[in-house]
Amino acid sequence: MCGIAAYIGQKNAYPIIIEALKRLEYRGYDSAGIVLYDGKNTKIYKEAGAISCLEKSMDQKNPIGKIGIGHTRWATHGVANTINAHPHHSQNKRLTLVHNGTVLNHHLLRESLLADDFHFYGETDSEILVNFLANQQAKENLSLLDTILQHSLKLEGRSVFVVHDLEDPNKIIACNLGGDLFIGKGKDKQILACSDKNALAGYVDQVTSLAPGTLAIIDADCQIFDLNSKLKLKPEWKKLKLNAESLEKGAYPHFMLKEIFEQEEAISKTIEHLSKSSNYKLEKMLEPYRRTITRLRKITIIACGTSWHAGLVAKHFFNELADLPVYCEYASEFMPTDVGAGDLVIAISQSGSTADTLQAVQSAKDIGAVIISICNVEGSAITNLADVSLLTKAGPEIGVASTKAFTTQLTALFLIASQCGEWRGYLSPNRKKSLWKELKNIPLKINEVLRNNPKIAELAKKYQSANNFLYLGRGTGFPIAMEGALKLKEVSYIHAEGLSAGEMKHGSIALIDKNMPSLFIATEDEHYDKIINNLLEIKARNGKIIAITDSLDTQIKKEADDVIVIPSCSPLLYPFLTVIPLQLFAYHVALLRGTNIDKPRNLAKSVTVE
Ligand code: G6P
Repeated sequence: MCGIAAYIGQKNAYPIIIEALKRLEYRGYDSAGIVLYDGKNTKIYKEAGAISCLEKSMDQKNPIGKIGIGHTRWATHGVANTINAHPHHSQNKRLTLVHNGTVLNHHLLRESLLADDFHFYGETDSEILVNFLANQQAKENLSLLDTILQHSLKLEGRSVFVVHDLEDPNKIIACNLGGDLFIGKGKDKQILACSDKNALAGYVDQVTSLAPGTLAIIDADCQIFDLNSKLKLKPEWKKLKLNAESLEKGAYPHFMLKEIFEQEEAISKTIEHLSKSSNYKLEKMLEPYRRTITRLRKITIIACGTSWHAGLVAKHFFNELADLPVYCEYASEFMPTDVGAGDLVIAISQSGSTADTLQAVQSAKDIGAVIISICNVEGSAITNLADVSLLTKAGPEIGVASTKAFTTQLTALFLIASQCGEWRGYLSPNRKKSLWKELKNIPLKINEVLRNNPKIAELAKKYQSANNFLYLGRGTGFPIAMEGALKLKEVSYIHAEGLSAGEMKHGSIALIDKNMPSLFIATEDEHYDKIINNLLEIKARNGKIIAITDSLDTQIKKEADDVIVIPSCSPLLYPFLTVIPLQLFAYHVALLRGTNIDKPRNLAKSVTVE
């Protein structure tokens, strides 16, 4: 949600910043802007709409400057127009700022600024923020560094902001009050700072993450300060391993399709990373908490969106593999009574920067819970908060609708649940071994499921004009039904509901008629017979049925209008296979409806506001 890219070096900043912004566009794409410092003045360029609109508007201009800051916006305060687009300048035009996140106490700050004779051109909290800093700076005659060191902790809420001061123009200051910012160093003392590490690829060789509660002076020396102690910190520079090609679509028309097809590889890499590599081996990472794990009476999972659906699937993993009940909470609904000191919390987040998840995890941590994070972005805010940070190896996920991140989260959760089961004496080491072996075969089976792609494209043609869909499943099929419905809503804008097939008859069945198709997850597990009953209930009301099944049973083929056949596997592993046709179905329907598949309207991949 909102992307920031700041450059300082010997090259013209504009092309570098615009390319970095394009890589950050998944974070917000309703308006964009850039400020450039040309050695004398700062000049702000902004446009409503996607980054391509900004780029087009720059064609006739000659943007020059070796220092610059860019921003791509997902509107929170104020509509998405040019005025509200970032960068924002202070009333005295001395400071220019871009901002990701929210300033929760902006109303109070606005009032005190109005009393000091400030006026505002737009509606954003970011404009208040830049004027708040300018006001403190002017009143106390402070440098920008001292202004931020002394006053930034008065700002409530999670945010990251990056500021340029025209009176100290050869540096930029970045402040992290609870989000993500990665700073990279390249050749010839070039520095590029971006909200996502991936956006740095190709420009820098070394990277450090700016931790929440710190600020960085972005110049050749790149000093970092702690906002509480005001002391200088030593940044930890790491080699940037990503290559720029992993951020391209290659031969695929959309990132979503590419990422669906990358799941085989992403799962294998995640298994390899967590079960083999010596530094990150799951057992080694969890070992300090082994005693806690053996005594646990429950686990709490905190997540949002697709990650929350992974948590709901994991409920079944922990139940069956470790005899542990799981309470899977929406991060935004988390209550402090959900956990106690010594409890185990698993926080799932692809990006590691979802504000709701960070907030809930912080509360659980304050209570004394042990936090394990499952995240796809090394160095992100959640990995800094967690006691144990387990990384999925999905690689950059750029399509806003999450696909490969989901199945790699399931992979990590399955491995953790079986490890816990072994330590708790519920699963024999041999049983664990054989389960892990089965998990390793899942990528091959996914490959088989993907071969249904042409057939699913045909089905999409048949059903594309429906305005409502039900997705139904039982057991692990229920969260997969929810995930399938979410995918369809996200990319095709068609209303869809994911329901427990058993619960459907308690109300939602009233919706069924010939115009409302239902997708059933009907795998050959303990729920199969009941699912068939539910399917017949829909059929009896003239509802159209698409079934996803591994069953060889002829009844389902007879009763359903359309059937997608997937390979069989252990019942607990079905979610890895059943979700794939649903991802493909959503993709193909969206394609036919002509939506913006990789950047659907109103959405952002990384939601950094609560
Ligand atoms: C946003 C995205 C979803 C994602 C959710 C949680 O809403 O659009 O695709 O599932 O955030 O994101 P996280 O990065 O925490 O997994």
